Amino acid sequence: MDFSLSEEHLMIQEAARDFARAELLPDVIERDKEARFPDRQVKLMGEMGFMGMMVPQQYGGSGMDTLAYVLAMEEIAKVDASAAVIMSVNNSLVTWGLDHFGTEEQKQKYLVPLASGQKLGAFALSEPEAGSDATHQRTTAIDKGDYYLLNGVKNWITNAGHADIFLVIAQTHPEKGHHGINAFIVEKGWEGFSLGPKEDKMGIRSSDTHSLIFQDVKVPKENRIGEDGFGFKFAMKTLAGGRIGIAAQALGIAQGAFERALQYAKEREAFGKPIIHHQAIAFKLADMKTRIDAARHLIWKAAWDKDQGNDYNLSSAMAKYYAAETAMWVTTQAVQIHGGYGYVREYHVERMMRDAKITQIYEGTSEIQQIVIARSIAKEKIR
Ligand code: CAA
Repeated sequence: MDFSLSEEHLMIQEAARDFARAELLPDVIERDKEARFPDRQVKLMGEMGFMGMMVPQQYGGSGMDTLAYVLAMEEIAKVDASAAVIMSVNNSLVTWGLDHFGTEEQKQKYLVPLASGQKLGAFALSEPEAGSDATHQRTTAIDKGDYYLLNGVKNWITNAGHADIFLVIAQTHPEKGHHGINAFIVEKGWEGFSLGPKEDKMGIRSSDTHSLIFQDVKVPKENRIGEDGFGFKFAMKTLAGGRIGIAAQALGIAQGAFERALQYAKEREAFGKPIIHHQAIAFKLADMKTRIDAARHLIWKAAWDKDQGNDYNLSSAMAKYYAAETAMWVTTQAVQIHGGYGYVREYHVERMMRDAKITQIYEGTSEIQQIVIARSIAKEKIR
């Protein structure tokens, strides 16, 4: 077993780290305060190849593996979790799905601009009454011969206000339950497609979240992804990889908060010495470091499983579950270590604590990951 990173992986990690420090850090507090989308930075991320990392170069991507992707995600999320989720959705949920299940025409028309960062994508599964219970899609796509007629509402859609291309999950054959669901490629600006108001969120505030409203939107037949009825499997397969990306986002948030807490603990003096020399603080930092490393190993293992062609349903759920819980716990400790300073914007850790919370909620709550893990271990043979 070899835990060392290759030259190429180290280069990607360094490039992402340098980019995050130079381009994301300077305005991160203001963007969060004003809930301002990082337009310029997302464009640069596209130019650097970060928006379609796992897509082959022939389709506009960087042709890298999942490990490269999680290394870059951690570095971006360490500084700006909002930029990280924008990147994660485009990489894991949109371009990966199109690359693996799209037709050649769909790839040329949609994947190439998405993977090269010229266009931005969004993934629309959640609904007002179908969040965790994703099989109960109320949005319908009725087969009208040449096209599908799309009607319904999607909720909490990341990137919605800036996206050009949306992957939308909808029910075509209600009598078939989740076997009657399809996934469609929908373009911004199509007649009958509109956005709800922007959500005013607790965290990841400079990412852009809206509901989507479809009223008799005509979706051409050729924009269905995969065979008729493949939509739910498409969503689940895509989300299994998405969970690795969000786990890496959570890891980056935790690592960022840890580094700030460590720095502060070395500089801040109380009772005659730097607070890192008080056991109450030192033990917290030791626990933070240990949990972060454990999360990182789960994530690298899930990425490795995916890259090896192994089943990664279990490892991605474990990685996402543990990394999200770790991010929430570590950021809370980081605020505590900072005392009153941790409660104000200037010291970054309060934002990180707000940002961490969403990683326990989206792309499957922590409880959904527990369900996936529990179902998998129920099938395990005891040797
Ligand atoms: N790969 C392939 N197929 C899968 C799969 C996977 N990883 N997971 C499930 N399936 C298949 C099952 O095999 C089953 O197929 P068959 O009936 O043909 O056997 C089918 O999907 C239904 O599976 P279940 O019976 O297990 O379905 P369920 O209703 O009991 O629940 C669930 C499954 C895991 C709870 C699922 O509903 C789920 O993951 N829910 C959470 C949804 C979610 O993550 N939403 C996030 C929205 S996206 C987002 O947040 C993006 C963003 O903005 C950042």
